[in-house]
Amino acid sequence: MQSTQSAKTAFFKAFGEGGKIRVIRAPGRVNLIGEHTDYNDGFVCPMAIEPQVVIASRFRDDGIVRVASTAFEGEVAQFSIEQKITRGEPAWANYFRGVAAELEAAGIPLTGMDALIDNTLPVGGGLSSSAAIEVGAALSFLTLAGLEMDRDRLALICQKAEHEYAGVPVGIMDLMIVATGKAGCATQYDCRSGTRQFVKIDSNDLRVVIANTMVRHELTGGEYAQRRRQCEEGAAWFAKQNPGASIKALRDVTMKMIHEAEGKLDDTILRRCRHVVSENLRTTEAVTALAQSKYERAGELMIQSHRSLKDDYEVSCPELDFLSSEAMKVKGVYGARMTGGGFGGCIVALVRPRDVDALTAQLEKTYQEKFNIKPAVFATTATAGASVVE
Ligand code: GLA
Repeated sequence: MQSTQSAKTAFFKAFGEGGKIRVIRAPGRVNLIGEHTDYNDGFVCPMAIEPQVVIASRFRDDGIVRVASTAFEGEVAQFSIEQKITRGEPAWANYFRGVAAELEAAGIPLTGMDALIDNTLPVGGGLSSSAAIEVGAALSFLTLAGLEMDRDRLALICQKAEHEYAGVPVGIMDLMIVATGKAGCATQYDCRSGTRQFVKIDSNDLRVVIANTMVRHELTGGEYAQRRRQCEEGAAWFAKQNPGASIKALRDVTMKMIHEAEGKLDDTILRRCRHVVSENLRTTEAVTALAQSKYERAGELMIQSHRSLKDDYEVSCPELDFLSSEAMKVKGVYGARMTGGGFGGCIVALVRPRDVDALTAQLEKTYQEKFNIKPAVFATTATAGASVVE
C-alpha cells in the first residue's frame, strides 16, 4: 500500500519542495449486499477497504488550483476558484473541479492549492475510486481552509459533484461509506432515513476477498441512468395501482405487489422492480445473519443477490458470473457476488480465514485459463472512512 511519504515525494516532484503539506486518505469501498437499491430509498451494506486514495496538498494564495495524479504522470490540471468552475480537460480532474464548485455553492470559502492524487484503487474497477477522489478532494479543501464539516453533508455535496461534473446520477452509497465508514465494520445504511447499523466483520472469523475481472465498468455509458429511470417508471406504476399505499419509491413496494403485477406491468420493468424489492429484503436479512455469525445464510443471500442482478437487473457480465461461480467451488467460501454498479469491475466473496489462499489460487488459475487475463485478487479488512493524516 502507498504511504504518506510516497504521496509527498510524488507531490514534491510535481510541484516542488517546501511549505506545509497536508495529507488526506480516502478509502475505496466494497458493497457486501444491497445493490442498486440506494437510489430506490433502500438498504445497502458496504464497507471501506484497504486500497485507497492519498491526496497531498499545499495552500496557494492566488486562488489557483493545480491537480496532478500518479495515474496520469506529466499532466497537470488547473482552474481558479475565483472564476466560474466548469468541466474541462483532463477529464480525470473533473472530480476536483466538481467538488470545488459544489463546496462553493454550499457557501464554503475555499483557497487555492496544489494537490497530488496517489491512487491504489483501480480506476473503473467498481471499488469507488471516483467517490474516494471526491471525498478526498473535499477534505483537502476543508483542511486547507481550516474548516470541518459534518460527514453526511460532505457526502451529499460530493454526490452532487458527481451528478453535475462526472455526469453519472449515482446514489449515496459510495460517498456515504467513503466519508463515514467505521474500522472493523460494514455499515447497513438506510438510504431513506439515513440511519445506520454497524455490522462487525471480525477478520479472525471471516475474511472479505475481492477479485477484479479487470473488465472496466463504465457507469457513464448510460446503462446506469437507464436502470434508474426504469425503477422510477416502476415506482410510478405501483403508486398508481395502489393509491392507498403511499408509494414514493420502490422501497415501498412489497413482494405481494410484485406478484400481482405479473402479466400487467411491462416485463422488463417488472424484473427491475423485482430485483430491487427482493434485494432490500435480502440485505436486511443478511445483516441480521452476519450479526449472528450465521455466515452460511449470509452467503446464500449473496448468491441470490448475484442471480437477481444477472437475470432480473441485467447488470452482470460473463466475467463476473464466472468468478462468482468459481469462488463457490472453493471449500470455506460462504458466498460470492458481483459488487458495485456492474458491467465489469469486481466480485466480493465471504470466506473462512484459512481458505483465503485456496480461493485466491483458484480464481487466478481458472480465470486466466478461461479469459487469458490475470484477475487482481486480494483480501481486505474493513477500514475507517476518509481521514486527515497530517
Ligand atoms: C454505483 C453507484 C452507487 C450504487 C451502485 C449499485 O456504485 O455509485 O450509488 O447505485 O452502483 O448498487
